[in-house]
Amino acid sequence: MRVVIQENLQAISRWAANHIANAINSYNLELRSKDRPFVLGLPTGSTPLLVYKNLVAMHKAGQISFRNVVTFNMDEYVGLPQNHPQSYWHYMHENLFDHIDILPQNINIPNGLAPNLDLECQAYESKIASLGGIDLFLGGIGVDGHLAFNEPFTSLVSRTGLRTLTPDTRLANSRFFGGDPTQVPTQAISVGIGTIFDARQILILASGPSKARALAHTIQGPISHQWTSSILQMHPNAIILCDEPACDDLTVSAYRYFKSLEQ
Ligand code: PGA
Repeated sequence: MRVVIQENLQAISRWAANHIANAINSYNLELRSKDRPFVLGLPTGSTPLLVYKNLVAMHKAGQISFRNVVTFNMDEYVGLPQNHPQSYWHYMHENLFDHIDILPQNINIPNGLAPNLDLECQAYESKIASLGGIDLFLGGIGVDGHLAFNEPFTSLVSRTGLRTLTPDTRLANSRFFGGDPTQVPTQAISVGIGTIFDARQILILASGPSKARALAHTIQGPISHQWTSSILQMHPNAIILCDEPACDDLTVSAYRYFKSLEQ
């Protein structure tokens, strides 16, 4: 696991956008990019907003094209129509897809209104596999260490499926629903920890002191389904990209070690 510590959210957002652009641009120079698109996993939430702004700016400046990119979003609420202002479909179009040159047929977001949610989950997982897996999975992290909606005690080998949101997550997300946790859907479709783990590279963002406890468990804790993000310790190519305030609960030795490696 590589841990990259930057000063603040602005700096991690620039770093992440550059990293994604470099990954896509280098891939497009490879021969296999003619047969198979670059497959990018994407999150929603507050943390990636500035990454998306940076990517849009880089696209407008001609530094990156998404013509040969297929995206898979991590999750979607069950029961919200696409045009609901809090659906992740709406979020992704508003913050990224409407401003770049991605082909609409290359956008994948689970359908939280599918008549058969189990089939929808299976089809989502199969589609990822049929495209040769995810090249780079960008993600955030919850205050309880969740990746996507894989709440504490979700199996570390889980695949795309239905998840029940914890009261903590509904409370955290109520800021988007007029401050009322009862307005936050109780269920979501989410890729599994196993789905994320299969990506060739994983880039997880953490910003601010509210993520400090989760980050310490992710980086230093034992690998446990209580902190599902701790599985990143086992991944051959995972990067945790965090800002200084998110490091508040790391031990001094861990902080110094990772800082020194990046200097
Ligand atoms: P946030 O969400 O970026 O809004 O903090 C992260 C998450 O819950 O995974």
